[in-house]
Amino acid sequence: MSLFASQRVDELRDLLNRHNYLYYVMNSPEISDSEFDCLMHELEKLEREYPELDDEYSPTHRIGSDLNRSFEQTAHIRPMLSLGNTYSIDEVDKFVNTVREALPGEQVTIVGEMKYDGSSISLIYEDGRLIRAVTRGDGQVGDVVTENIKTIRSIPLVLQGEGWPKTFEIRGEVLLPWLEFERLNAEREANGEPLFANPRNAASGTLKMQNSAEVARRGLDAFFYYLLSDDLPADNHYENMQAAAGWGFKVTPVMQKFDTIDEIERFISQWDVERKGLPVATDGLVFKVNSLRQQLNLGYTAKSPRWAIAFKFAAERALTKLRFVSFEVGRTGVVTPVANLDPVLLSGTIVKRASLHNADIVSALDIHQGDMLYVEKGGEIIPKITGVDTAAREPGAEPVSFVSRCPVCDTPLTRDEGEAAWICPNHYGCPPQIVGRIEHFVGRRMMNIDGIGSETARQLYDKGFVRSIADIYDLTVKQLLTLDGFGPRSAERVLEGADASRQVPFDRVVYALSIPGVGQTMSKKVARAARSIDRLMAMTREELTAIDDVGPNMADEIIAYFADERNLQTVERLRAAGLQMQMPDDDGIERSDLLAGQSIVISGTFTRHSRDEYKAKIEQNGGKNVGSISKKTTAVLAGENMGPAKLEKARSLGIPLISEDQFLAMIGG
Ligand code: IVH
Repeated sequence: MSLFASQRVDELRDLLNRHNYLYYVMNSPEISDSEFDCLMHELEKLEREYPELDDEYSPTHRIGSDLNRSFEQTAHIRPMLSLGNTYSIDEVDKFVNTVREALPGEQVTIVGEMKYDGSSISLIYEDGRLIRAVTRGDGQVGDVVTENIKTIRSIPLVLQGEGWPKTFEIRGEVLLPWLEFERLNAEREANGEPLFANPRNAASGTLKMQNSAEVARRGLDAFFYYLLSDDLPADNHYENMQAAAGWGFKVTPVMQKFDTIDEIERFISQWDVERKGLPVATDGLVFKVNSLRQQLNLGYTAKSPRWAIAFKFAAERALTKLRFVSFEVGRTGVVTPVANLDPVLLSGTIVKRASLHNADIVSALDIHQGDMLYVEKGGEIIPKITGVDTAAREPGAEPVSFVSRCPVCDTPLTRDEGEAAWICPNHYGCPPQIVGRIEHFVGRRMMNIDGIGSETARQLYDKGFVRSIADIYDLTVKQLLTLDGFGPRSAERVLEGADASRQVPFDRVVYALSIPGVGQTMSKKVARAARSIDRLMAMTREELTAIDDVGPNMADEIIAYFADERNLQTVERLRAAGLQMQMPDDDGIERSDLLAGQSIVISGTFTRHSRDEYKAKIEQNGGKNVGSISKKTTAVLAGENMGPAKLEKARSLGIPLISEDQFLAMIGG
């Protein structure tokens, strides 16, 4: 290998790390995106040519991989505690006074900073390199999500500057910026996927994704607020965070030191307003005692430090007039009451509608026609009605009553015992339910037919082109050209999508059918157990409930679905259209029930097969792979370096540990 290559690789990595930092942390790029891409391509090329130069810390490793992996768990070195919450300036004053009283005669400096509303993360660095990233989990044990974290460009894989301890931990919050959050939700909406309620859910969901290439695409960011080590650079929080900033971390830019309560109050009033302009979600401020010696003296309660407190911003609330309550019917027939309001500005957006969820909530709020309602946005994007200003009620206003018949097809509604939801049972005649099923069928996680959004699905139904999901395969260009906004290109795209969907695997076909109660995960389980549509249609209640997680209600729903002549016809037409109606059986995998009834946890690292391969082997032999050890676990497939927390738990519950060789012997391999 040429010396040049090795030198150039080092040079490129340094350059890319520096420009990454300038772009993602400092927001002040010095080169254009295309110059950056050019350097990245050069590095990729050299690493391909000289595989011996590859390094997992190289900036090229930030793109994630398509490999699926289940997360290993590990115990935190120091537990991740939460913070005590306060909701008023008075309570913050009280906190400061309590701290001062506990440290008589001492000068106490308080640091105020932003409380970011994302998903907390702990990063471990050794010799200036990121070696592990762990989610909060239950505070004691978390999931190891290093590969996903590496895709976040503002997190340094290799530290810059100097003075970092040999080993340290840094904690922060992983966030999905508002813009990325809105982009992601718009994309999900177009694909008929459920929306994330807020950036926090989106961030924590993203961190737990199996496919780090998808994580890389989502645009996460991270801010850091807590440095832990036996060998810290300074004796106070503020300087430690400044040092961390010097090593390349994005620390909260809103960070200030205070000596008086007046200053703290001004800081709260200022940020209660200004936070609304920040690019990421925040839910309050955090106040911390600056001196580490004082922190140590103050100590901890069982749940949180005595040296810090969170001040939570009040959810934004507005008062507006109820115009009317509408009742909307979804894909599954559930009828949702929606408050239609006089438009009102709330957290930067105009709110005209808010869900009232169900009949119980409508009656608990005791809403009357024309009431003045309180609307809140909290951390959720979908506004909530939280109360009624009863003093403003018009005399004689009628209470809002829930409809007893479907507002669209007039069928009397039904409600299952113990359920909050009223349902229109006319599943095959009620238009919004049919349109909802069309939308679901074409969604990205189902048949993935591009170009049919909710508006198109409705038009296809209204024009009579699609009344059953099977009609999608009979659509013609001529029909599609009559739809609003369709030209030859978009029509062609739909037909190409329908054509490509013939290759979509059987488990997604099962999901696409909209069998009541059978979601994505259950469709997979049911499809794998049945292996073909013919077998699934013939399965008895006993056979269905023997499938992992299928209860009697779901079994009955599946049986009822296939007992209906209309569904049988749809299935036959889909089969005739060429959809995958069975799992591929030419996979060459032998199956057995040698592990039937076993619940096995996989832990540690292995030499003969990957974790995913072991997971597959457990399932192919009739066993169940579970994520965490409980009383129900029958064995732990233990590799090397199994986490101490898991080891201890298995011992205390008397669960046998089996080595990979023992396991392979058990399944005769
Ligand atoms: S300090 C031992 N500082 O809020 C104290 N936490 O409600 C460690 N959070 O679990 C936490 N911004 O996930 C701290 N500037 C900040 C924060 C912050 C957000 C989160 C963190 C913590 C939770 C507690």
